[in-house]
Amino acid sequence: MQIKFYQQEEQVPLEMHKVRVVQKLFLRPVEERLQCIKEAGNNTFLLQNKDVFMDMITDSGVNAMSDNQVAAMSIADDSYAGSETCNRLVKALEDVFGTKYFLPAHQGRACENILAETFVKPGQFTLMNYHFTTTKAHITRMGGSVIELVRPEGLLPVSDDPFKGNFDIPRMKQIIKELGAKNIAFVRIEAGTNLIGGQPVSLENMLEVAQICKENGIMSILDASLLQDNLYFMKMREPMCKDMSIKDIMHLLGKTMDIIYFSARKLSFSRGGAIISNNEDYILKMKEFIPLYEGFLTYGGMEVRSMEAMAVGLRETLDFEYISQGPQFIKYLVDELDKYGVPVVKPAGGLGAHVNAGAIVPHVPQSQYPAAAFATALYIISGVRGMERGTLSEQRNPDGTERYADMELVRLAMPRRVFTLSQVKYCADRVKWLYDNRELIGGLKWEEEPKVLRFFFGRLQPIGDWQEKLVAKFREDFGDSL
Ligand code: F0G
Repeated sequence: MQIKFYQQEEQVPLEMHKVRVVQKLFLRPVEERLQCIKEAGNNTFLLQNKDVFMDMITDSGVNAMSDNQVAAMSIADDSYAGSETCNRLVKALEDVFGTKYFLPAHQGRACENILAETFVKPGQFTLMNYHFTTTKAHITRMGGSVIELVRPEGLLPVSDDPFKGNFDIPRMKQIIKELGAKNIAFVRIEAGTNLIGGQPVSLENMLEVAQICKENGIMSILDASLLQDNLYFMKMREPMCKDMSIKDIMHLLGKTMDIIYFSARKLSFSRGGAIISNNEDYILKMKEFIPLYEGFLTYGGMEVRSMEAMAVGLRETLDFEYISQGPQFIKYLVDELDKYGVPVVKPAGGLGAHVNAGAIVPHVPQSQYPAAAFATALYIISGVRGMERGTLSEQRNPDGTERYADMELVRLAMPRRVFTLSQVKYCADRVKWLYDNRELIGGLKWEEEPKVLRFFFGRLQPIGDWQEKLVAKFREDFGDSL
């Protein structure tokens, strides 16, 4: 619920928590920021955090924990086998999702590695609303391929569709008929669809997809990493969820999906990963890989203190006030940018605000990575670190040609409970300035291009001296301000 202000024009999200531990931030002068991004190969992933003012690269593992999470960490049981911490986590998962079995992994992509290795055979297909970078990398590594079934609305930057992450059900049925169920390793439903702007999937759509899977004897897997924001949107936007508690929704998902996995760096505001299910056969198939890749079955590569934080964080997901803060702050940022005419993905989703860089710098061709160029420009003029979510985040086609992304976005992730509203206002202000000076932004070209997940550590160079010109304009407009 949003708290109403007496002065109508002051409707802003209100934090329902107070800050008790703080970390100092530094805002370097614009000339130093230019130097920093050059040293980082024009890749925001390679910036040092000490050189960043607002770190909006991700909401993964960087959300502020609650006092109860921090307190729980101090009672962690470090024993290798039979740890009480593991028992508490199993109990929390059972309470929250209603699932019996649990396999631990060190983070979300480690779950994906195990799922792909266990269930994907060379030549098989996997169906999903939309891929995520690490998910697709693991599936293709096993010789499988990904077919995306998001509805066309999901790929429109602006729409009034409340559930842009939904599957195209008729297409899904058609594809299953064409490919044959035995050639489909699994169907993966990604809650809070990451790469298309943190857009939610409706409960109705999730249930329908799972039902089609059941009818065709195909395994259904829910990636619940971004489920927290998705739950908020279900409660806010979906009639069938109005009278359901968050726990009711989570239990229904636990009962319906064959397997659920998640990155605890997102869901539960802790660190680690989990695969859960009520199906013992599936769990037994995956189980042997846990000690091989992750660690013993009671911790799977996770630090026990994180597991305690996960158990508490999962229970806190049931509190609507807790899960509202992220989407409300994101909406505030999206609305501010939208009011100013900056192209942003709408409606506001979870995870963060997604600036439509492709629409802002149409003069930069996709071959010169417009979203990456915008992300470097934003860092230079603000110290805000965003993440490219466009062509640079794609893998090249097997023949070496570029696979141009459907959307060229820059994601400004909103670590939950980390930034104050004035910091979010600063971010919006600088994006507006950059929008007004968008003609100064130029393209990027490769200096070093890694073969796999190139966006993480690839190095690029600006084409021409546009970054210097941007700094000069900043000085002209802002004087001696940082
Ligand atoms: N699935 C989704 C939907 C994700 O968003 C992520 C991570 C993963 C799986 C992998 O989890 O990082 O724990 O290995 N997303 C992060 C992000 C990296 O910044 O969006 P992980």
